[in-house]
Amino acid sequence: MEKFFITAAILMGQFYWAQFTDINIVKEVKVKNKGVVVSAHPLASEAGAKILRMGGNAYDAVTATQYALAVVYPQAGNIGGGGFLVGVKNNGEKFTLDYRETAPKKASRDMYLDKKGKANTDLSQNGRLAVGIPGSIAGFFATLKYCKLPMDKIIQPAIDLAEQGFAITEQEADMLNNNREYFRKHNTSSIVFVKDQPWKAGDILVQKELAETLKLIQKYGAKGFYEGKTAELLVAEMKRGNGIITMEDLKNYKVAERKALEFDYKGNHVVSMPLPSSGGVLLAQMLRMASFENLEKYQQNSTKAVQIMAEAERRAFADRAEYMGDPDFIQDKTSYLISDEYLKNRWKSFSFNKATPSAEVGKIIPQPKESTQTTHISVLDKEGNAASVTTTLNGYYGSKVVVSGAGFFLNNEMDDFSIKPGVPNMFGAVGGEANSIQPNKRMLSSMTPTILLKNGKPYMVVGTPGGTTIPTSVYQSIVNVVDFKLNANISVNAPKFHHQWLPETIKVENNFPENTISELESKNYVIEKVKQIGKTEMIVMDDNGNVHAVADGRGDDSVAME
Ligand code: GLY
Repeated sequence: MEKFFITAAILMGQFYWAQFTDINIVKEVKVKNKGVVVSAHPLASEAGAKILRMGGNAYDAVTATQYALAVVYPQAGNIGGGGFLVGVKNNGEKFTLDYRETAPKKASRDMYLDKKGKANTDLSQNGRLAVGIPGSIAGFFATLKYCKLPMDKIIQPAIDLAEQGFAITEQEADMLNNNREYFRKHNTSSIVFVKDQPWKAGDILVQKELAETLKLIQKYGAKGFYEGKTAELLVAEMKRGNGIITMEDLKNYKVAERKALEFDYKGNHVVSMPLPSSGGVLLAQMLRMASFENLEKYQQNSTKAVQIMAEAERRAFADRAEYMGDPDFIQDKTSYLISDEYLKNRWKSFSFNKATPSAEVGKIIPQPKESTQTTHISVLDKEGNAASVTTTLNGYYGSKVVVSGAGFFLNNEMDDFSIKPGVPNMFGAVGGEANSIQPNKRMLSSMTPTILLKNGKPYMVVGTPGGTTIPTSVYQSIVNVVDFKLNANISVNAPKFHHQWLPETIKVENNFPENTISELESKNYVIEKVKQIGKTEMIVMDDNGNVHAVADGRGDDSVAME
C-alpha cells in the first residue's frame, strides 16, 4: 500500500484539504453483491466506484473511469486517443463499441516514406503527423445509451481531479521525467507536464486547461470536443507542425457499433472485440488450437504447456500480418480463420519434439515493433452487468503533443498502420497490405477487451495493455483460470510469456521458471528475458456470486468497490 499524505491548500482565500492526495493502491478485493472497478490507477478506479455508489451501472462506471484515467494516468488514459468497449448485460445482451482512431482525410498510403522510399518511423511515432482522429469522446457518448446516469454526472469526478489536482505516484513521476525532452521537443508552448525541477512521488499535478475542456464536453456533449473551441484548438495545434487533421475530419468522426466476436471454449462462452482489433480473432485462434492438445493435462508454465501455447501464438500472429485490418476496407476472413477446419490444418505441423520455424507458418514479412502502452479497465456491477474496455494513445503519452489551450495529449496511433506495406525496410518496419493507410480507415489493433460467460451470464472480465502482447496475455489469463484452475490473483500475477511469430523469440518475464527455459532451449526455442509483460485487470465471479477482483501487481493498478 502506498500513501501520500494530505496537503493543506489555500484557494480563493479559503482553507480546505486538497482532495485526491491520499492514494491507496488495493490489489485484490473479494466481495459479494457490490460492484467492482479495476484500472491502472487508484483514483480512476475510485471515480468509477463513486459512480456505482451514485446508482450508476457498469457502463456509467467504465466511462467515469476512462475520463479519470485521462487526468490521472496521462501516459495512456486519454480523451485524445481511442479504444474498444465490450459489454455484456445481465440479460445476456452483448455489444461492442469501436471508437478507434481513424486516418485523416489527407492521409495516404506512403505518407511516411521519404524520397528514397524509406519508412520514417519518427514521423509515424512522434509529433503531429502521427495523430489519428481521436475517437474516445465519441465512444463515451455512444456508451450513454447503456448508462443510467447523465454525462454531466459521469464526467464530474474527472473535472474535480483535473481542477483540484492529485498526488502523482512514483511511477508517473519517473515517466514524466523520462519523457521531459520529448515533451519539450514536440510542444511549442509550456505544458503542465514539464516543470523546472524533476517530478517526485506526491507532487500535485493540476490540469486547469484539461478541466476547462472537460467542462466544454460536459456542457455541449460530444460537440464540446469535435466542434467549437476544443476542435479549433486541436486544429491550431496541427498547424504548429506537420499535422493534417481538419475541422471536417473531427466533425465526421463516427463510432462503429460492431457485432461482438463470440466463440465457445470448454464450457465458457467468450465475447471479445472483432476487427479492426486483431485481439478477438487471435484469442479465438489460440484457444482453439491449444484445445487440440488437451492443454488442461499440463501444468501452467511447464515446457509442454508453453510449447502448445507459444506454437498457437506463432500461427495466429502469422495470420494477423497477412489477413487483418479494418473490416470496412478489407474482406473480413474471421469466420474462416477461427474455423476448426482451418485451424486443424494449421496445427498439423505442431510437434512436441522441436520448435516450428516461423518461415513454415507464414510468408516472412518483417513486422513493425509495436508499442507496449495502452490501458485496460474491467468492471462488474452488482446487477451482473460487465464492461471490458481497453483504451490507448498508442505509445506512452502518444505523439507527446499536448493540445495547447486544451491540455490533453494526442495519440500516435497512425503508427499502428503498416507504414510501408509488403516491403521490408532497413528497420523491418513493414506489415501487410490489409493494414495499409487509407483516409478514414482504422489502424489494426491488438487490444483484447474480453468477457466470459457461463450459463449466459458474465463471470469473467479481463484485459490488459501491452501492444502485441495483449492477446497473448489475455489468452494466458483465461487458460490459467479455465484449464489450470488457478485463482484470479495467480492467473494475473504469475510470470507470463509471449510469442508473435516474428521475431522467432519467446519473450519470458524475468522470474519465469528456469527449468522450463532450459528445456525449451533444448528444443530449438530462442528465449529472451524481459522485465514485464502486460498489466492485466481481472474480475472473476464464482457460482455462488462471490467476486474476486485483481489489479495487476506490475504497476499502480488498483481495485475499487462500490
Ligand atoms: N496501440 C495499441 C493497440 O491498438 O493495440
